[in-house]
Amino acid sequence: MNDRPPIPTRRLAGDAAGVAEAARLLRDGACVAFPTETVYGLGADATDPAAVAGIFAAKTRPRLNPLIAHLPARAAAQAQGAFDVHALRLAEAFWPGPLTLVVPASAGTTVCDLARAGLPSVALRVPGSGLARDLLGIVGRPVAGPSANRSGRVSPTRAGHVLADLDGRIAAVLDGGDTSVGIESTVIACLGGPPRLLRPGGITRAAIGAVLGFAFDGQELGGQELGRPKDAEAARPLGPGLLASHYAPRARLRLDAAAIEAGEAALLFGPAEPLGLDAARAVVNLSVGGDLAEAAARLFGALRDLDASGAAMIAVAPIPSSGLGEAILDRLARAAAPR
Ligand code: TXA
Ligand code: MG
Repeated sequence: MNDRPPIPTRRLAGDAAGVAEAARLLRDGACVAFPTETVYGLGADATDPAAVAGIFAAKTRPRLNPLIAHLPARAAAQAQGAFDVHALRLAEAFWPGPLTLVVPASAGTTVCDLARAGLPSVALRVPGSGLARDLLGIVGRPVAGPSANRSGRVSPTRAGHVLADLDGRIAAVLDGGDTSVGIESTVIACLGGPPRLLRPGGITRAAIGAVLGFAFDGQELGGQELGRPKDAEAARPLGPGLLASHYAPRARLRLDAAAIEAGEAALLFGPAEPLGLDAARAVVNLSVGGDLAEAAARLFGALRDLDASGAAMIAVAPIPSSGLGEAILDRLARAAAPR
């Protein structure tokens, strides 16, 4: 997978001409990275297994992981899956936006088996980014899109991040500037029974509970409970979001740090200054004012910047677990997990 000859990766402007060219490339079966409001996705025609295989090759991602299919509007998404009452409510409330719904695939789904990893379910999302929806509308087919980073690395929130990981491996990146949410979508499975939270993300647990009308305490689940793959392979991982080590910078991470050791990079939140900050090799504060939305938007870029300082360890100050803090802490815990 690492021995593909490099291809020139084009940087397309986020205007009508760039969108049209990105759509043409996608319809031709190429891989094109595109901005959403969460992170940049690595897009390919979800109806074409050869195109989807290109995603796995570019990312060096294990093929077992199912991908999200992106659609330009709710009606197009609902044609791909069976929505129960919970899924309908959530789609109405949060689409377009940073929510992914895992639902049973409809009989007529055009999302290919490879994109669904052979599962009877399908992950669907209508992104909040207008540029993304314009692109999807012109493509006219569902677009598979994992985050546009090398597998296991930090998700990209600007075109430069995409190129740092994938230059020479994909046809183009559509440049829409910095993403606004900065952390991936919340993934919820509605497969009969109560909805379950598979990945915390850009929409908070509280917001979801408010729409569903009950306290939403769904747990993150392992693979088998979510519907069996057709080939009955048992305990394979559902996706990289469910692997322990993910979103990893090169440096190690130390969470909940009250003090900074000399030479460490420091990732701060809020106005408090930890002990030893003067001896830090590099410092980024995610939000001096303690705003979790601002912190989420800056998280992945901050990890990339602190990594670039060359520090062997990133010390992370305490971050509250409320609201978007749940998703931020989830990503930090994965980045800190043993590899
Ligand atoms: O914000 C986002 O969701 C970004 C942008 C590009 O849309 N995409 C993204 O994709 O984060 P990815 O592939 O990195 O994460 C997709 C998550 C994985 O955790 C995967 O396991 C889960 O969705 N997923 C996809 N299809 C699934 C299915 N059928 N059942 C359960 N989980 C599924
Ligand atoms: Mg990812």
